[in-house]
Amino acid sequence: MTLRKRLPLAHLPTPLQRPRRLAAATGIDLWVKRDDMTGGAEAGNKIRKLEFLLGEALSLECDTVITCGGLQSNHARATALAAASLGLRAVLFLRTNDPSLAPPLEGNVLIDHLAGAEIRLITPEQYRDRERILDKAAEELRAEGQKPYVIPEGGSNGLGALGYVEAMGEVRRQLDLGLGGGKPFDAVVVACGSGGTAAGAALGAAFHGVASEVVAVAVCDDAPTFQARIEGIVREARSLDPRLPEPARVTVNDAHKGPAYAVSTPEQRRLIASVAGLSGMVLDPVYTGKAFSALMDLAGAGGPLAGKRVLFVHTGGLPGLLAQGATFQDALGLD
Ligand SMILES: Cc1ncc(COP(=O)(O)O)c(C=O)c1O
Repeated sequence: MTLRKRLPLAHLPTPLQRPRRLAAATGIDLWVKRDDMTGGAEAGNKIRKLEFLLGEALSLECDTVITCGGLQSNHARATALAAASLGLRAVLFLRTNDPSLAPPLEGNVLIDHLAGAEIRLITPEQYRDRERILDKAAEELRAEGQKPYVIPEGGSNGLGALGYVEAMGEVRRQLDLGLGGGKPFDAVVVACGSGGTAAGAALGAAFHGVASEVVAVAVCDDAPTFQARIEGIVREARSLDPRLPEPARVTVNDAHKGPAYAVSTPEQRRLIASVAGLSGMVLDPVYTGKAFSALMDLAGAGGPLAGKRVLFVHTGGLPGLLAQGATFQDALGLD
């Protein structure tokens, strides 16, 4: 059963900005949707999905939310904070190589603890079976008399994706006010980790006439995997809201995922430093830094975005950056 009651968790609308010096460096008509500003510590793209997911959890009178992610998951952190604000218990299954070691109290993990979330560490092998693990945990909680609500990895299902349909509606209203240059974009560029943001953005871009293409920059996995995942989420979202049309064209770019999930290249770290210096906008090495690296590449001479009008969605991730400070020695010329 799906009950669509949207909770007002995010601080909206987020700014639609043109970072002038950075735009000049890219050579394109660059605009940025500042979804890193959807809130305080809970900020980022995930809170838009949680408006719908936790709305359903409350409608079903659930008292506990269960979800999963990498150790430094932004989604888990946003869920932990939102759950705390609503008086719900949060159980987080986080992936780590050695669950017998307590993870350092830094970045998202520190915030998860501060929010009082219950952290259960699992191995990468167990994580592959995450759906069953989440369902089993829900079953156990039910047996204890609790009412759990399971949120899939990244909040990426049809219901969560509606958050990004709404985000594109917000951009449409900003364009109608003459902001963001006042006319639709050629493409939206966004980081892609579990597919829900790209799926929602593609549906919303078509529904609200914001752009005809969404470039989903994979931060792990390959393009065919994400293409299929995004198509599945799109189908599910359209079944929840029959008004939604065919999505904008989705191009998955998997050329910038770097050595591994959450591991960036020296060039990507230098780019993050240069973007901050040119715009005051702080990207992260797990998601947005990789997405911006793809944007720079695609916007270069002869690239598909060269000379285009592009909306980059800054999806947040600051705590993940702060958990990786030591890796920035090289980019900052400090080693
Ligand atoms: C900061 C940040 N940006 C982008 C993404 C990707 O969004 P999605 O999981 O919806 O693909 C995530 C989450 O995975 C994230 O935490």
